[in-house]
Amino acid sequence: MNKKVLVPVLAAAMAAAIMPVSSVMAEDELIKVGFAQVGHESDWRTASTKSCQDVFSEENGYDLSFVDCDNDEAAQKEAVRSFIEQDVDYIIIDPIIATGWDTVLTECDEAGIPVIVIDRTIDDSDKYAAWVGSNFKTEGLAAGEWLKAYADAQGIEEINALVISGTTGASAQIGRSDGFNEVAEKYGWNVIDEQTGDFTEAGGQEVMENYCKSYEGQFNVVVCQNDNEAFGAMTAMDNAGVTYGPGNDVILISFDACTAGLEDVKAGKITADFECNPLAAPFVEEVIQTLAAGEEPESEVYMVEHWYALADQIVDFEIDGEAQEMTEVTDEVIEAQY
Ligand code: AHR
Repeated sequence: MNKKVLVPVLAAAMAAAIMPVSSVMAEDELIKVGFAQVGHESDWRTASTKSCQDVFSEENGYDLSFVDCDNDEAAQKEAVRSFIEQDVDYIIIDPIIATGWDTVLTECDEAGIPVIVIDRTIDDSDKYAAWVGSNFKTEGLAAGEWLKAYADAQGIEEINALVISGTTGASAQIGRSDGFNEVAEKYGWNVIDEQTGDFTEAGGQEVMENYCKSYEGQFNVVVCQNDNEAFGAMTAMDNAGVTYGPGNDVILISFDACTAGLEDVKAGKITADFECNPLAAPFVEEVIQTLAAGEEPESEVYMVEHWYALADQIVDFEIDGEAQEMTEVTDEVIEAQY
C-alpha cells in the first residue's frame, strides 16, 4: 500500500495558492467535483470548507458541487447519490460517522466515479481511492501523555476527568476517546463521565452545565474534543463559578487549535490545545490529478499537527517512545493559524 505522511498547515496553505489553470476555461472542460461536507458545526469546519472551495474553484479548473450536510447522516448519503446522478468526475466525502458506507460507495464504484475521503475515516468499506486526514488517536494519546507529564510537574497526584466528546461514531470522536482513555487506563486515572457535545459550542455548554451540577467539586480536568465545545464549556464553568486554566480549579484540554482556541490558550484559559489540521484540500487535489493521469495515488495522507501551550505549560512527553515537540503560543503563532 502506498502511504505518505505529514502535511503541515503552511505547506497546505501554499499549495492552496496554486496558479489558476485558466480563467477562460469552457464549462465542459472543468473537472466536476462533488463534496459532501459534514456541516458547519465548528471553526475547524469553516476552515475545511474554505480550503476546499479555494482549491476546487472555477479559476483552478473545477466545477464544485458543495453540499453542507448539517451533521445529518441520511442527508450525506443523499448528497453522494445526487453527485452520482449529476455524473460528476470525482466525489469527496467527509464522513459524519465512520460506518454505514459500503452500499453507497458500491453505487459510486458501479458508476465509475472515484471517491476521495477527507478528514474523518470510513471504517466499514474500502471502496474509495484515497483518504487524506488526521490521526485522531495520536491526538488523544498526545493529550493524555501531556496531561501525565504536566500533572507530575505540578505535583498533582489525582486526575478526575470529565470528557465532552465529539459526534458519537465520528472517527474524530472514536480516535480521541480511544487515545485519551488508553493513557487514562495506563495511569489509573478516574474518567468520571464522557458525554457528547456534538462538536458544537451549544453542545459543549449544555454538557458542562450538567457536569457542573452533577459533579460539583469532584473534577480537576475537563477534556473537550474540539475548541467550540471548549468555548461552551468555559461559559458554563464561568456561570457555575468554576475556575479553569493554569493555576486554577480545572485543567482545560482542547483539540483543533483554531485561531480562537489559541487565543484562549494565550489568555490562560485553555491549558493545552492539540491541533487538528483542516487544510487538506490541496492534497485531495493531488490525489485527483494523480487519478486523472491514470496513476495510483497514495492511499493514506496524514496531515502534520502540533501541540500548543504557553511556555510554563510546555513539558516533555512521549507517545510510544517517540519524543513530542510542543509549540509555544505567541501572537505570531496565532496569526499564522487557521
Ligand atoms: O473531523 C474533525 C473534527 O470535526 C474537528 O475536530 C471538529 O472541530 C469538527 O467538527
